Amino acid sequence: MSKLLSVLELCICVIYSWTWAQADNCRILKYKPVVQGYSLQGHVLKSFELKREIDCTARCFVEHNCMSFNTGLLDGSGTYLCELSDSDHEMHSEALKPKYGFTYHATENACIKNPCSPNALCQNGFTDEGYRCLSNRANSQALEATPQMSSIASTFTVVPVPDFINQTSLSLYVGQNKDIFCPVPARGNSSVFWMHQNSLVLPDGILIEGSLVLKITSANFNHSGNYTCVVENVNDQSDTVLLLTLHITYPDTCSRVRANISDVSGDYVIDPDGSQGKDPFGVYCNMTDKGGVGVTVVSHDSENRTHVNGCKQSGCYSRNISYLGASLSQLSDLTEASSYCEQFISYECHGAKLFKRDKSWWVSRDGVRMKYWGGATNKDGYCACGVAGNCARSDSGCNCDADDAVWREDSGFLTHKTHLPVSQLRFGDTDARKEEGYHILGKLICYGIT
Ligand SMILES: *[C@@H]1O[C@H](CO)[C@@H](O)[C@H](O)[C@H]1NC(C)=O
Ligand SMILES: *[C@@H]1O[C@H](CO)[C@@H](O)[C@H](O)[C@H]1NC(C)=O
Ligand SMILES: *[C@@H]1O[C@H](CO)[C@@H](O)[C@H](O)[C@H]1NC(C)=O
Ligand SMILES: *[C@@H]1O[C@H](CO)[C@@H](O)[C@H](O)[C@H]1NC(C)=O
Ligand SMILES: *[C@@H]1O[C@H](CO)[C@@H](O)[C@H](O)[C@H]1NC(C)=O
Ligand SMILES: *[C@@H]1O[C@H](CO)[C@@H](O)[C@H](O)[C@H]1NC(C)=O
Ligand SMILES: *[C@@H]1O[C@H](CO)[C@@H](O)[C@H](O)[C@H]1NC(C)=O
Ligand SMILES: *[C@@H]1O[C@H](CO)[C@@H](O)[C@H](O)[C@H]1NC(C)=O
Repeated sequence: MSKLLSVLELCICVIYSWTWAQADNCRILKYKPVVQGYSLQGHVLKSFELKREIDCTARCFVEHNCMSFNTGLLDGSGTYLCELSDSDHEMHSEALKPKYGFTYHATENACIKNPCSPNALCQNGFTDEGYRCLSNRANSQALEATPQMSSIASTFTVVPVPDFINQTSLSLYVGQNKDIFCPVPARGNSSVFWMHQNSLVLPDGILIEGSLVLKITSANFNHSGNYTCVVENVNDQSDTVLLLTLHITYPDTCSRVRANISDVSGDYVIDPDGSQGKDPFGVYCNMTDKGGVGVTVVSHDSENRTHVNGCKQSGCYSRNISYLGASLSQLSDLTEASSYCEQFISYECHGAKLFKRDKSWWVSRDGVRMKYWGGATNKDGYCACGVAGNCARSDSGCNCDADDAVWREDSGFLTHKTHLPVSQLRFGDTDARKEEGYHILGKLICYGIT
């Protein structure tokens, strides 16, 4: 709506009768085009019953805390309700709601930028800045007085629809809530009805609120399709006001769930490569980890600390990793849809080598043998201690490659997205008595939206 041009400008200088009248008592309010069928709710400061709708403009003007107002024809009496609000749709977009027979009038409001200190009151339309700050909120009442007006301009233009409801196609994620407004011009006695796929029967979970709002609660695939909002006027004319095609999809990652659907940790279905690709799958979304961005957590069958012993050859011990509910190819899509992925890997060893003489390794999702360990991304033959320069022996890149009769450990996070997740673990050099090890592999976790 901010794009729309102002159609009405009122410049009225107020001459107060009191002697302390200040020089900046000149108020200039620029009115924005009106929005019919809407009112700003919950911020009404004062209301009046008036014979003429236009008089509400003047009431807003003289009420220094007025930032917008609603007008509506009162049933039967031929008079108008005039509601002055101390806020507007830019400060509280959620408060602008469809209301049959009402019209919303906003001003160009310099106070939306919060120019005043927190305990001062901002009044719109004063001084060259377009606002003024009253340091003592109580003063605002004292400044009010009945002004004499030098002039009032009065033209209103009907604006068809605010920008935010002018859409023909809308995508929602499964589980999302959404209100769709029918942009009905208030034209006296008309009625509004909604249709889904040319039927008056709306899918379960969709309600009509106050006839103008279609309320979608926890979207599901039965909600997809075309919606029409039809306005029937007194003279039996029908207007199809809104045709909207609704698409329902699964979110691609838990970060998306967090941004658009819910901040509650739990099990969710995601579809990282979109509805045309591979099947969606279930994951756990941790909404508190990593600062609450929404972390996708995928479990597997090899998370327990597991003993390795009894074989000598390079990689003779082999453990395939099976991820719960998702294939490696689906998880590769998850890493692509996420900014960051990581998987913890650890090997505790007693006289068992890791990379020395190619004894042990892990396998990437693409079946490639990987020669770096957690904490040493892409540095072949290295573990975290090798990168930090504090391994058990200064001539090896991993603690385990000290290969002595002492329990040692190499651990850290694998973070190279295109290698994840780990598909297999391979260890060797655990044949002799007192040569053994334990491996731990963490869940795959991914977060951030690409
Ligand atoms: C609504 O969208 C259509 C198509 O994008 C455009 O032609 C029309 O001008 C828009 N109406 C308003 C009021 O923005
Ligand atoms: C609107 O129409 C209904 C019936 O068609 C009638 O009962 C009602 O009085 C009308 N309301 C107004 C404000 O004209
Ligand atoms: C969708 O519609 C089908 C058929 O009416 C019904 O069995 C199913 O439970 C609905 N799904 C949801 C999530 O409401
Ligand atoms: C929705 O309406 C569009 C345009 O009228 C049409 O092309 C499309 O097939 C409709 N979709 C469904 C699911 O009926
Ligand atoms: C999801 O949230 C983002 C940011 O809050 C928003 O820009 C986007 O339009 C939302 N998407 C849907 C489908 O609601
Ligand atoms: C979610 O992440 C938090 C913070 O890292 C962690 O303490 C918690 O155990 C995680 N929840 C689950 C169910 O994994
Ligand atoms: C992991 O260890 C726990 C506790 O000892 C056990 O209940 C669970 O079955 C083990 N999981 C696997 C996959 O072996
Ligand atoms: C482990 O995975 C490899 C490669 O996919 C496969 O050839 C092998 O049969 C699997 N081993 C077991 C025990 O499932």
